[in-house]
Amino acid sequence: MSDAQTWDPAGYARNARFVSDLGMPVLELLAPKQGERILDLGCGDGDLTQKIVSRGCRVVAVDASAEQVAAARERGLDAQVCDGQDLAFDAEFDAVFSNAAMHWMTRPDDVLRGVRRALTPGGRFVGEFGGHGCVATIETALRDSLERRGVDPHGVRPWYFPTDRQYRAKLEAHDFEVSSLALIPRPTRLPGDIIGWLETFAGSFAGPLPEGERPAYFAEVRESLRSRLCDTEGNWTADYVRLRFAARRREQRVT
Ligand code: BEZ
Repeated sequence: MSDAQTWDPAGYARNARFVSDLGMPVLELLAPKQGERILDLGCGDGDLTQKIVSRGCRVVAVDASAEQVAAARERGLDAQVCDGQDLAFDAEFDAVFSNAAMHWMTRPDDVLRGVRRALTPGGRFVGEFGGHGCVATIETALRDSLERRGVDPHGVRPWYFPTDRQYRAKLEAHDFEVSSLALIPRPTRLPGDIIGWLETFAGSFAGPLPEGERPAYFAEVRESLRSRLCDTEGNWTADYVRLRFAARRREQRVT
């Protein structure tokens, strides 16, 4: 994850509670069973982790953000600060679950190696994250506005948004058997002004700018998006595309 992206649990709860609310279908795809050991990869403030615990599972939750992990611990969860690209668990889990986190992990092969190792043979890997085309309208506006300010936006890409074919191939290359995988366009009504979304999720784009210039930068991006993403009543919608999948760790490596 880019250094410029930080997480403030209070701001996250205000601007992004929908992220875990809309994660319920992924939890149902996981179908957690009483007594299972589950790793929640990229748990955020633990909202969905808590729901898995309430199904009678033993859940270890990890997230790269110390602030989010502290918020998850306040809920009484077993949460640890850990970059999902450096997982060090070994055959400890019946399933790995991940909602809206893996697009922040730009080294997917490292993620998949760690997830595979964390699972027992036959264990499930079920998740959802941003897929190809996700927030493309917003990202284009962020880049265009950086260029107008004389900043080359090339190196600024905090997200991994693969196509369905690309991610299926990655899962298979890491010895997962895919049972379902699809890109799902999901335009998402935001709980408030898009400035809240930009402040919560687009910190990496503002990072190259002097701090005093960032509010004007986000305000300019907002105005350039208004005609496409804001309706006449002032409701903002983000152009999300999800990639949802369920896979299983193969018992044996395919040679
Ligand atoms: C997502 O959940 O797809 C997402 C969230 C923040 C930034 C980009 C994508």
